[in-house]
Amino acid sequence: MDKFVITGGTALQGEVTTSGSKNSALPALAAALLTEEPVVLHRVPRVRDIRTMERLLVDIGAKVDVENGSVRLHTERIVSPEAPYELVKTMRASSLVLGPLVARCGRARVSLPGGCAIGARPINLHIFGLEQLGARIHQAHGYIEAQAPDGLRGNTVNFDRITVTGTEDLMMAAVLAKGETILRNAAREPEVVDLADMLIRMGARIEGAGTSKIRVQGVERLAGVEHTIIPDRIEAGTFLVAGAITGGDLTVAACNPEHVSALVSKLQQAGVEVTQPDATTLRVRGRGHLRSVDITTEEYPGFATDLQAQYMALMTQAEGIALIVETIFENRYMHASELVRMGANIRIDGKQAIVAGPRQLTGAGVIASDLRASASLVLAALVAKGETVIDRVYHIDRGYEKIEAKLAATGARIRRVE
Ligand code: EPU
Repeated sequence: MDKFVITGGTALQGEVTTSGSKNSALPALAAALLTEEPVVLHRVPRVRDIRTMERLLVDIGAKVDVENGSVRLHTERIVSPEAPYELVKTMRASSLVLGPLVARCGRARVSLPGGCAIGARPINLHIFGLEQLGARIHQAHGYIEAQAPDGLRGNTVNFDRITVTGTEDLMMAAVLAKGETILRNAAREPEVVDLADMLIRMGARIEGAGTSKIRVQGVERLAGVEHTIIPDRIEAGTFLVAGAITGGDLTVAACNPEHVSALVSKLQQAGVEVTQPDATTLRVRGRGHLRSVDITTEEYPGFATDLQAQYMALMTQAEGIALIVETIFENRYMHASELVRMGANIRIDGKQAIVAGPRQLTGAGVIASDLRASASLVLAALVAKGETVIDRVYHIDRGYEKIEAKLAATGARIRRVE
């Protein structure tokens, strides 16, 4: 298993380029199942979760060709409308094929995901939504079987809590359903909007993506499309924190500044200088002294849960007490105990974490437990005294494209060892 060896103490300087969004590319790949015509996606990050989704789509019947960050998909025929446990257990977003498969061929068999490191993560709302659209659902042997032999019928789906992939899954199901579907309490994340943009260009009729009410008029069929994935806001946010925590001067290029505005606001309140030289660039300059600022994770446009761990690493370097409240996932503080091993002062009490700083971190052997927790440990290692060895970096490879190369190019002393 690969490890990262990081020697802290260098202020990052220069420019990093943001990759395409993993969480936008995953539903976009699944959406290619909705048409028998070719779909070409640009700016798809070469990360492990994307490769897992590509493998799944090949098993289902898609022809998948990858070239220079672009992916060409062609699903003339669904061969096997199934997402097996072996793939779903390694990547929960596999459940994104449920909606497209039922919409395209009237049936799907998808493994239930089971628990994961950050929480229980059920898919009951995906299932409820499909039932509202007329699918018959049967659960047996750890699998969900959905049947709609005569096609799905539009209906109103009231989500009792906001779910990102649930909204995406149902939107993909509704585009080929008969009549009108209304999704209430829908997720407003930029990834939902990106997917809607792609589907609309395939011929879907969707209004309201980006608001909590999405209206879909079903159409008979969808055409192929060429689509460019939006920049990864979580990767961009991680680099902003890297610039801030090292007291560096880092330019984050090819990002969408609006998508990280909740983080930028918190960084500015903490005393970090963040400017926007142009429409797709942010520049972060650490000014030495950081103040503690509280955060509560929320659905978009609030502070992203996917940036909570990275922000916690930053707060270990800030003066005062920062209260962090995680409201989206019930167990997303696995990084805290590793940060404590590096010298941080953090107490966890249920949904709340209290970080008292600043503390000089020191390099240690630590273990990555999930994707964003690993990013948090990398950030902490960049300011720690001495050497940190991060084990199980396969977690970070799920969602960050060439992170060690990007950080090394801005002066970080980081290397991968096998
Ligand atoms: N939930 C339910 N029932 C459902 C679906 C969700 O109770 O049927 C609950 C979840 O347990 C959670 C909350 O609703 O407590 C929100 O979950 P959501 O469904 O929004 O999460 P997701 O769609 O599974 C996506 C991202 C996550 C990100 C969350 C929240 C993708 C592929 N994944 O997950 O990204 O944390 O939204 O923003 O888009 C990551 O990239 O590291 C990552 C975990």
